[in-house]
Amino acid sequence: MNKHISLIFLAQALYLSLSAQVQVKQLLTEGLKDPQTIDNAHPRFSWKLSTEQKNTLQSAYEITVMDGKKTTWTSGKITSDESLHAPYEGDALTPGKLYSWKVKVWDNHGHNSASTEPAYFRMGITNWKAKWIEPGYTEQATNRPCPIFKTSYRTGKKVASAIAYITSHGLYEARINDKKVGDGFLTPGFTSYNKRLQYQAYDVTNLLQSGDNNIEITVGSGWYRGTIGWGDNKYGKTLGVLYQMEVTYTDGTKETIISDEHWKSGTGKITYSEIYNGEWQDNRKETTWTGVKVIDVPLNNLVASVAPPVTKHQVFSNIKMLKTPAGENVIDFGQNLSGFVHFKASGQPGDSIILEHGEILDKKGNFYNANLRTAAAKDIFVLSGKGEEYFEPHFTFHGFRYVRVRTKAKMTGIEAVAIYSNTPATGDFECSNAMINQLQHNIQWSQVDNFVDIPTDCPQRDERLGWTGDAQAFVQTATFNHNVNTFFTKWLRDLAADQLQNGSVPYVIPNVLGNDATGSAGWGDAATVVPWTMYQVYSDKRLLEQQYPSMKGWVDFIQLQSPNNMWASGSHFGDWLSYKSENRYADTYTYITTQCYYALSTQLVINAAKVLGKQDDVAKYSALLKKIKDAFCAEYVTPNGRIMSNTQTSYVLALAFDMLPENIRAMAAKNLVDDIASYNNHLTTGFLGTYLLSNTLTRFGYTDVAYKLLLQETYPSWLYPVKMGATTIWERWDGMKTDSTFQTTDMNSFNHYAYGAIGDWMYKNITGINMDSSTTGFKKIRIMPRPGGNLTYAKASYESGYGKIGVDWKIQDTKFIMDVEIPVNTTAEIYVPGKEGKEEVGSGKYHYESTINTTKK
Ligand code: BGC
Repeated sequence: MNKHISLIFLAQALYLSLSAQVQVKQLLTEGLKDPQTIDNAHPRFSWKLSTEQKNTLQSAYEITVMDGKKTTWTSGKITSDESLHAPYEGDALTPGKLYSWKVKVWDNHGHNSASTEPAYFRMGITNWKAKWIEPGYTEQATNRPCPIFKTSYRTGKKVASAIAYITSHGLYEARINDKKVGDGFLTPGFTSYNKRLQYQAYDVTNLLQSGDNNIEITVGSGWYRGTIGWGDNKYGKTLGVLYQMEVTYTDGTKETIISDEHWKSGTGKITYSEIYNGEWQDNRKETTWTGVKVIDVPLNNLVASVAPPVTKHQVFSNIKMLKTPAGENVIDFGQNLSGFVHFKASGQPGDSIILEHGEILDKKGNFYNANLRTAAAKDIFVLSGKGEEYFEPHFTFHGFRYVRVRTKAKMTGIEAVAIYSNTPATGDFECSNAMINQLQHNIQWSQVDNFVDIPTDCPQRDERLGWTGDAQAFVQTATFNHNVNTFFTKWLRDLAADQLQNGSVPYVIPNVLGNDATGSAGWGDAATVVPWTMYQVYSDKRLLEQQYPSMKGWVDFIQLQSPNNMWASGSHFGDWLSYKSENRYADTYTYITTQCYYALSTQLVINAAKVLGKQDDVAKYSALLKKIKDAFCAEYVTPNGRIMSNTQTSYVLALAFDMLPENIRAMAAKNLVDDIASYNNHLTTGFLGTYLLSNTLTRFGYTDVAYKLLLQETYPSWLYPVKMGATTIWERWDGMKTDSTFQTTDMNSFNHYAYGAIGDWMYKNITGINMDSSTTGFKKIRIMPRPGGNLTYAKASYESGYGKIGVDWKIQDTKFIMDVEIPVNTTAEIYVPGKEGKEEVGSGKYHYESTINTTKK
């Protein structure tokens, strides 16, 4: 062998052994990358493994937590294949301190490796020295311009590190030396403020300079005191800030800068800002500064942020300028999104630019915003006339695709910016049917558009509330598209905080509708469904444990409403927005829905009690569950599986929640299918039936019917809105009718994710990405595609806590060809269409071919 060739061999061998070498990547602390505010004394650590070598499992790990160069704690070598949520078990960690950690792993092939880059986390603080400050001037009664708070801080020393802790009554935007602090919008986020007010921590070392430093914080009314849920001042009347900055100098000395009586306040260019109504800016305005008022507010509601902030995402610059039949200038951004428009403008002092936002054009092609109801969604910008001016709103967002513009000024660089919670994208789905792909696109967009810090019903009209029913119906689909673990952790804490003493759950979380707006079946069940889903999908046992009292509280509340084990009282939303026409309607008797959800939530409490080792509760709630189901069957079900109401939703709820004895389930499923056929293969379900419909059909052997519903293009169906040009999921099956008129103006959002819950069925059945339910977090995967609907290919990927799960199949003549990817540290069972049985595999990439029957139906 000559020298050259042997070198190539050597390089190849080295490559092979290196790629077979297990590696550790994507270290997360409490589900986040390098978080700055850990509020838990025992943070949990997660990581992913990668290697080219098949069938690799972790056999052991060792975590080391460091304080600078000093080891704070090491777990020692722990024999375990778990790489999600391994807890810190050392001594108390110091508030405000930055720690780093790394992990070493061993695998089942005798390799080991340590993370190359350390991960970081900073502990939250408890030693608040800052004082709450409010404006020192008397606020205008109307419009309430945004207050600005400022201070200046001088130092001659060199800054080694500076961490700013900030929160506000209202929404804040902080600037140091005229640079925005952090990349978050609408901070400190929306929580049940009186009980839980989040603060954020920022490393601002690089924003400081030696000499004078200007700190300026502008505050908008936001959810705190702006109009929300049909009223204002829900949490207070006056805006304020709390600011604490811990500075460490290179000489080792420290200094704390706090908000206090020395700050100044005034109003500036933002003359009005409201979430529903929009923002007004007047660049001619100058600030007159006065002092501030220090107020004495207990700090015991302050909590560290646990979820990613709302940040800027896609920017739409490819715009269409329309002149509508009404003669108006309207911009079409091509996508219904949540966010705002930014632009540059020049003109005369006092020239204004008025932007109004709408989701859809009317039948004639004119701008339409009547469905926003009382939400003005109008931004007004006034020019100073000094050269080119840049505008973007700060404390509002709109749900829109179209913008009506009125101005004499010259505008350039007009773009729409999508803003939403920065939850990592995890899922992708594509198949050979372009309309289904558009449906998937619409689901993804309705998800992000409605994940603006809390899960909302819609992002445009005078609502945008954390409707519990919508969230519980959609949560499973949401987990496929994005990692929503910390997003829902935050929201569930508010749910528990706002739950009534008697266990009843508000319609919306945070509860801005009052204590009478509580206790609806299918809505309050978010208390059980969401934590259980987080546990299953993300293996988040601690969250389940923390939410357990809330889960139980909800079921105990229902029990109090249910003499003789029948929940047949109270007012409920029922199968909201189900099908209705002049001659036929699909109303499901409300107390069928209540009883089914009573059973579901009881079942989920039993499941949680089993996981948490609460045997007494398992026994107690199991006995209750039996009584609930018996009462249901005695009252609403015939011996042959016909259920009162005889609607698709009544069958779906009874089947999905196992309400019926085994021997009549098949008959009930047949009744469901007959009902679908009687509507000529159309669904008639509303919010409660729809998200369960297709999975129920598949479970009882009717995947073909599920495909017929999916491919249906006429109303009511998932593809009807697609055919009508939708870019997001509509609230109603017929928001726009076939003649392009609107169903109604009253309640007609074109961006509601609830019906997008079909996404879950698509991932699980078209591409077949499932989890073996004996495990959590996709530790054991089940790949079970069910090709149908004349699809010739489908592919999806899902980034689980362990890594990427991929399925990519195509049909060529009678050949089924499939590539599968299974992440390291998991196992999978693979079901190949056309092949008997299943194959058990470990991590790696696999290729399958089989022969299938492709007779087109
Ligand atoms: C919201 C819904 C919500 C419902 C309650 C509506 O106004 O937009 O999505 O679940 O009220 O029925």
